[in-house]
Amino acid sequence: MISIVILGSGNVAQHLIKTFGKLSKQSNQIVVKQVYTRNPEALRGILNRDKITNHTGNIPEADVYLIAVSDNAIKEVSSSIPFSNKLVIHTSGSMGLEEIDTKNRSGVLYPLQTFSKSKAIDFSTIPIGIEATNEKDILTVKQIANVLSKKVFVIDSAQRKALHVAAVFVCNFVNHMYHIGQNICEEHQIPFEIMQPLIEETADKIKILNPKEAQTGPAIRNDQKTIDKHLGFLSNDIEKNIYNLITQSIQSHGKKL
Ligand SMILES: NC(=O)c1ccc[n+]([C@@H]2O[C@H](COP(=O)([O-])OP(=O)(O)OC[C@H]3O[C@@H](n4cnc5c(N)ncnc54)[C@H](OP(=O)(O)O)[C@@H]3O)[C@@H](O)[C@H]2O)c1
Repeated sequence: MISIVILGSGNVAQHLIKTFGKLSKQSNQIVVKQVYTRNPEALRGILNRDKITNHTGNIPEADVYLIAVSDNAIKEVSSSIPFSNKLVIHTSGSMGLEEIDTKNRSGVLYPLQTFSKSKAIDFSTIPIGIEATNEKDILTVKQIANVLSKKVFVIDSAQRKALHVAAVFVCNFVNHMYHIGQNICEEHQIPFEIMQPLIEETADKIKILNPKEAQTGPAIRNDQKTIDKHLGFLSNDIEKNIYNLITQSIQSHGKKL
């Protein structure tokens, strides 16, 4: 059995707390001893109050401290853990092991998924990239990750950062494109849900085609007349720039199919 203290109560922390809670009913491989958050209200209805503290001085001794706070707070939160020579891991895609205060041993458990508190998620399908500074700690992080997911892999910090940049393109930027598309639809009294089958097919298609082969549209066809019409339609300068840049990127990456 591995005992854990989770630090944080945001999107990732809440999903971890719920998932460990569910899994503890099936086996006692992982026990969440306590959660530290500066805002206990955030965990109302998710965890009993006696398992939550907002004072770092009350953090109990455990095998592993799992920090799921904003990237820029990992350093501060890690240094507030009142123990030394413990395994302390964070969940960030872009932050290095050096964010963890050197009084403790460092590791990473990076779940490659987009988490929102309000949306349930099945952790068992989420790829988890893990890292630690010695073999024994890698085994411990692996044990924790294996309880959460069937897809666990060891990666180093450079690979994890590359993965995070790629994830920003395939998730965050794509989601922003949905947002722009939604605004354009709504400005013209078109329900955004009309786009749903197109969105689903676009994501589905790349399970069998690589993204370069799957590309369609005016940019890859070098259809300059349509491109000019679209640019004329857009009134927002940022959206015009995005349209132009992505068109250029598609045209420089792919040959006409
Ligand atoms: N969300 C994702 O899709 C995702 C995916 C993979 C990895 N991650 C990584 O997971 C980590 C957490 O991300 P998240 O999306 O869960 O963030 P989030 O929802 O914005 O939550 C951030 C948490 O950090 C706490 N916090 C911020 N500054 C703090 C400080 N100085 N002291 C103590 N607590 C502090 C916040 O507390 P308050 O509520 O009191 O502000 C909140 O509990 C990040 O490293 C992120 O890169 C996120």
